[in-house]
Amino acid sequence: MMTMSTANQPMLEFIGIDTRYDTADGHNLPRLHLDGAASPLACKVALDTTAELLPHYSNSHSYVHNSAKISTNALAWAHDELLNFLDASPDLYTAIFIGAGTTAAINRVARGLSVARAEKKIVLVSPMEHHANDLPHRQFGNQVHYLPLQGHGALQGAVDLQGMEALFEEHSGNVNYVAVSSVSNVTGIRNPIEKISQIAHKHGALVVVDGAQSVAHGPSELNRLNADFFIFSGHKLYTPFSPGVLVAKKNILQDLPEQDLGGGSVSTVSYYDYQLLATYPDREQSGTPNIAGSIALASVLKRMNKLGLEAVSQHSSRTMTYLVDELKKLPNITFYGDPSLARIGAVSFNHKRIDHGLVAAILNDYYAIAVRNECFCAHPYVSSLLKEELWQLDLSNIADDQQEDYINRKRGMVRISISLYNSTEDVDRLISALTELDTRIDELDKEYQAQNDGSYVHKTFNVDWRSELSFID
Ligand SMILES: Cc1ncc(COP(=O)(O)O)c(C=O)c1O
Repeated sequence: MMTMSTANQPMLEFIGIDTRYDTADGHNLPRLHLDGAASPLACKVALDTTAELLPHYSNSHSYVHNSAKISTNALAWAHDELLNFLDASPDLYTAIFIGAGTTAAINRVARGLSVARAEKKIVLVSPMEHHANDLPHRQFGNQVHYLPLQGHGALQGAVDLQGMEALFEEHSGNVNYVAVSSVSNVTGIRNPIEKISQIAHKHGALVVVDGAQSVAHGPSELNRLNADFFIFSGHKLYTPFSPGVLVAKKNILQDLPEQDLGGGSVSTVSYYDYQLLATYPDREQSGTPNIAGSIALASVLKRMNKLGLEAVSQHSSRTMTYLVDELKKLPNITFYGDPSLARIGAVSFNHKRIDHGLVAAILNDYYAIAVRNECFCAHPYVSSLLKEELWQLDLSNIADDQQEDYINRKRGMVRISISLYNSTEDVDRLISALTELDTRIDELDKEYQAQNDGSYVHKTFNVDWRSELSFID
């Protein structure tokens, strides 16, 4: 269960490393979780912190009774800890806990910037974004233009800075902000955020960074990146019940209108008027925050900081390099994204003969290996990576009325993502399963029913989810 430590530093424990599941061929195996890019397992610190806090738990925004003092101060500590973890100067930045995750925070920023800087109509969005960092920008009346990426087709890389400069020249003075992820949730490719900030700021535009896929894999160095907004979900940092996090430059945030209003963010309110608080983060946090989740997240971040974010980064890149190298040795694997670039946290591939839905289902049902497949809420990006492959599909033996379903079954990938609890032994287990898959596929294929949505369902086997949870009768 103890899975990561550095000399003289406390180990991190994760809940669920030992979970076991029955397999379709009658075994009972420890589950291997390779789906941390969606949500990693919970760090035990989060649970321990919550257990210690709850006897003192009270609503915050008050210093009257003892429990209120403890909760309010602990919440303030959580805000400070967050900035510390991200290396974001408290003079410049504030950290706000907001909504359930990245999605809520990006919507807040997109809505606010479209009003605060309404004269600038254009938003430059990277084409590799999760829907959460694409659709909100389209929704609030902006004209979205997509940034070019380096490379082409299946080999696309990071944001092309020269192409970005050219777009700025073309739309001189009209760009409100650039929205870009620090790391793609599909290919694990990192974007050059520091340079993107320099170019955007030179042209009077702001920078909104979706950090959901980078925060768990090393230092965020916000002061250096100089992003105006940095957003992520606490659940990506081993704290499943955490809120989302919006880190913003205070001098920009103060001009954003349209936040959700209510108690906690205002100083004086009459029937005719109200005054927002001058201080952050209270000014941005109306209503009762997710106090316990925020404090639990901060305690996980503190523990990761103690472990050393460089050590976290090294563990992540060592495991990922090993994973990519081992996957490359397999004969039937197609990778996506520029192969010369390092991957952070996640890598996606397809098996040349077996649909992504079937690979993922077999890994789960026969090997207890949890991976994710399909388009990872980044449909335009995945489609563009797959475009040439889909055009080349041989449909000559597929009936006309089945061609669409056939193509849909090919529209997707298998994603392997790694977290702090994953090791090179886990990679070996995955590679051994994928190797065996090649020899077992004809036998296993017969056990599955292909669905119209691209997934594959085992004809006789499924997890009995009710029996796994005793609280459900
Ligand atoms: C890069 C990226 N952005 C945004 C999100 C959305 O996060 P949430 O569902 O927590 O709002 C995800 C989730 O997978 C992601 O990977």
